[in-house]
Amino acid sequence: MCGIVGFVGEQNDALPFIFSGLKRLEYRGYDSAGIALAAQGGIGIQKARGKLAALGELLGAMPSGVPCGIGHTRWATHGRPTDINAHPHTDCHGEIATVHNGIIENFQELRAELIALGHHFLSDTDTEVIPHLLEEYGGAHDLEGAVRTAEKRLIGAYAFLAISSRQPDRIIAVRRTSPLIIGLGDGENYLASDFSAFLSATRQAQVLENGDMAVVTPHTVRIMNLAGETVERPIMTVDWDIRQAERGGYPHFMLKEIMEQPDVWSDCLLGRIQGDRVVPEQIGLTPEYLQRVKHIQIIAAGTAYHAGLIGKSLIESLARIPVNVDVASEFRYAHPVMEPDTMVIAISQSGETADTLACLRLARELGHFTFSITNTVGSTAARESDAVAYTLAGPEIAVASTKAYTTQILVLTLIALALADIHGHPRPDLVRGLLQLPLLGHQVLDVMEPVKDMAERLASGHDVFYIGRGRDYALAMEGQLKIKEISYLHAEAYPAGELKHGTLALIEENTPVVVIMTERDVADKTVSNILEVKARGAEVWGIVDSSLPVGLPIDHRIDVAVDLPELSPVLAAIPLQLLAYYTAVARGEDVDQPRNLAKSVTVE
Ligand code: F6R
Repeated sequence: MCGIVGFVGEQNDALPFIFSGLKRLEYRGYDSAGIALAAQGGIGIQKARGKLAALGELLGAMPSGVPCGIGHTRWATHGRPTDINAHPHTDCHGEIATVHNGIIENFQELRAELIALGHHFLSDTDTEVIPHLLEEYGGAHDLEGAVRTAEKRLIGAYAFLAISSRQPDRIIAVRRTSPLIIGLGDGENYLASDFSAFLSATRQAQVLENGDMAVVTPHTVRIMNLAGETVERPIMTVDWDIRQAERGGYPHFMLKEIMEQPDVWSDCLLGRIQGDRVVPEQIGLTPEYLQRVKHIQIIAAGTAYHAGLIGKSLIESLARIPVNVDVASEFRYAHPVMEPDTMVIAISQSGETADTLACLRLARELGHFTFSITNTVGSTAARESDAVAYTLAGPEIAVASTKAYTTQILVLTLIALALADIHGHPRPDLVRGLLQLPLLGHQVLDVMEPVKDMAERLASGHDVFYIGRGRDYALAMEGQLKIKEISYLHAEAYPAGELKHGTLALIEENTPVVVIMTERDVADKTVSNILEVKARGAEVWGIVDSSLPVGLPIDHRIDVAVDLPELSPVLAAIPLQLLAYYTAVARGEDVDQPRNLAKSVTVE
């Protein structure tokens, strides 16, 4: 969690660059923020609890014309979100400053050691041990040497930047697990947790590998591995449009990201289908490997896990290959049993979720072929897997995942169809149908007005239940997560047939129930379950395949024109996402940055 930014140049002021970089990284954490500038004579620091705007008000007090600095936007792990705990942190003499993303696991032991040596600590954070260690190892005069020595003492998963007022011409960067990228400018260079922080300045970037340390000056970038040997990291060109990372006129990123889904689906499918077939190489796989796949294990967290559940249903029903889906934080400690020829698929928008990465590493250790579905080029998941398919959804800024989720389902659908083809169950109708999805997506978006009424009704309530069968149940799980995380309403998802085994007791007069019905072959069964809740007074909204008959026993109907039921999840996801969005807006909540959450969960 947390976002870090660095700027080192000759002439330009570091401050405006760092502040605008932090704005782009605010999705990574937003409970406090700070900036430190290094110039001969001292480090200037401002930091503030709360959103970035609070820091913005303090910038006038910072020196101008300083071309070297670092910044941080925080999601608290150790120590409450306070001014003191906000980064950057400094040594005793205020000559060294650091910003850090991740966790230093042995910080208590180091802190005790440093206190015994006379160091005085101000904050409760694990981070603060870094500048004190650097001070202890002579970092004020030789920052690079001190970082190399100090870094050997740190245990954990982290990335940090360090500056010194006695060497204000450089930033030293270290990557141990948490992401860190160098942006290459002209007479100035940048560092950040992700590309979006410096896209306005450059598109040329080097992604630091795990274990790398870099010395970055205005004109040079020197990268070293754990052994201290200089290493080359390829220079890549980032082709994301900067406007993609902005709101494009919508009041919230989440709404923009929902609305752009049909276009994003086109991007995701582009070049991956030829005629009636999926091209395996375009999703990172070969026909020879797909032929050998006998079992699949999917691992993911949160929304990505819900996409995995839909993937399971599609792969099993289309390709007849057994699939397990597990939540990453459970799987990693579950001593999993996997058949030797199991393909392990990790799904992660960020490609940086700590638990998901741990599962990937475990799978590799056990000798399995690992495959990542991620939205983030150059992410750890992408680089540590045997193969990768990108969701190509563009930057997803809202904390609540929308377009990344539907593109994850699309990539899983492509995998299911490629496997089905190779294992003797081709479905050319579905392959062709995929190409119609962007058009259908636009049609669904055009008829979403009734969702606003539904949201108004939910906004004043306390609870809502989501039910469905099969893939509709997986969608129900995603619908309830979405509404919980941004509107703070209590929501629960149940397989429609399971309610009567206990939860039906909670249904009373006017309890809202959202039923999802796109699986035509079980629609009749779901109707019985609707009658069960209606008999207890529930008010039922249906998100319904438009080919189902009129006269269903539901109070309010939202039709989704589903052509082929296997392809309905991405379409039916739209009203669920909008329902969560409008409910949160009606309740006046901070849609893009819900409380207690962060976009990229890089801690366990
Ligand atoms: C919810 C949401 C989270 C993420 C989860 C995994 O809207 O976004 O549940 O899906 O934290 O994140 P990634 O996909 O980055 O591994």
